[in-house]
Amino acid sequence: MVEQINQMRAEANGKIDACTNLKSLNDIRVEYLGKQGKLTNLLHSMKDINKEDRPKVGQLINLAREEIENKLKNLQIKLNEKVLEEKMSKEKIDITEPSKIIEKGEIHPLHKVFDKLIDACVAMGFTVITGPEVEYDYYNFEALNVPKDHPARDMQDTFFITDNILLRSQTSSVQVRAMQSMKPPFKIVSPGRTYRADSDATHSPVFHQFEGLVVDENVSMIDLKSMLTELLKMLFGENTQIRFRPSYFPFTEPSVEVDATCPSCAGKGCRLCKNTGYMELLGAGMVNPKVLEMSGIDSNKYSGFAFGPGVDRLAMVVNKIPDLRMMFENDIKFLEQMK
Ligand code: PHE
Repeated sequence: MVEQINQMRAEANGKIDACTNLKSLNDIRVEYLGKQGKLTNLLHSMKDINKEDRPKVGQLINLAREEIENKLKNLQIKLNEKVLEEKMSKEKIDITEPSKIIEKGEIHPLHKVFDKLIDACVAMGFTVITGPEVEYDYYNFEALNVPKDHPARDMQDTFFITDNILLRSQTSSVQVRAMQSMKPPFKIVSPGRTYRADSDATHSPVFHQFEGLVVDENVSMIDLKSMLTELLKMLFGENTQIRFRPSYFPFTEPSVEVDATCPSCAGKGCRLCKNTGYMELLGAGMVNPKVLEMSGIDSNKYSGFAFGPGVDRLAMVVNKIPDLRMMFENDIKFLEQMK
């Protein structure tokens, strides 16, 4: 019996020393101290031994039990600590670690100008409409007083798809669509892409225009001048000087070219404005009565004005960009400078 107890003690101690997790610790507890445990069984078999040996054996079993219980208790504390440490190291947050940089997108410099123009015009009561980029010759030229044999067609190197269909060379095509679908009085603006077979530092085959059209009774050149002066000052600042020069467009009469003092040198003359002090920004004019009539508007009752800045040009001037093509190259380094 004594032999048995010592053997069991040694066996239990060995198992406890080798135990590395809480689950096997519990298994060991059940194996020795449980209701059917080895130590419990030994206690039950006490009744089979001599009366005089019983106290001694009993003491031995109790010592063994105490020892195993203590060892299990200590191991349990250690293992619990280990579990906690593991959990803490997994959930560790290094508050000194630099945060991840979230790259933020930016609105393209061109679209910033579009947004400004649209906001300003909507505030003045204009409605925004759009028209197709693949357009009929009729809307792009004919109905704008540019018949097939008109020399003004040479001003715009147009991409023709068929004899009658082209990539619109100007957003003025939307003027015609507006006049044919809306009843005066109306005020519309139309932002969009336009195309011409042109490519150098100030021209790109795809570029952008912003068309404006006002049709109402008694619209005069004064309305045109004051509205455009207001719009350009919003864009370039209150101190900007605006200049109107006589020009020619088949669909406006009279026609003007509108310049603003160069934002780079404030009119003193610099490289950007080729020492003129001014930047040419847009074409405009009073809608030719012939154009109103062609779209079914009574030119005795109604008059109108139209304007059409090149938006790429405005973006170049606003951001002092030397080459227009840089805006379409999607070079992140360039775009980041435009923020
Ligand atoms: N569409 C003209 C161009 O592309 C500009 C313009 C628009 C002129 C409206 C007058 C009125 O050159």
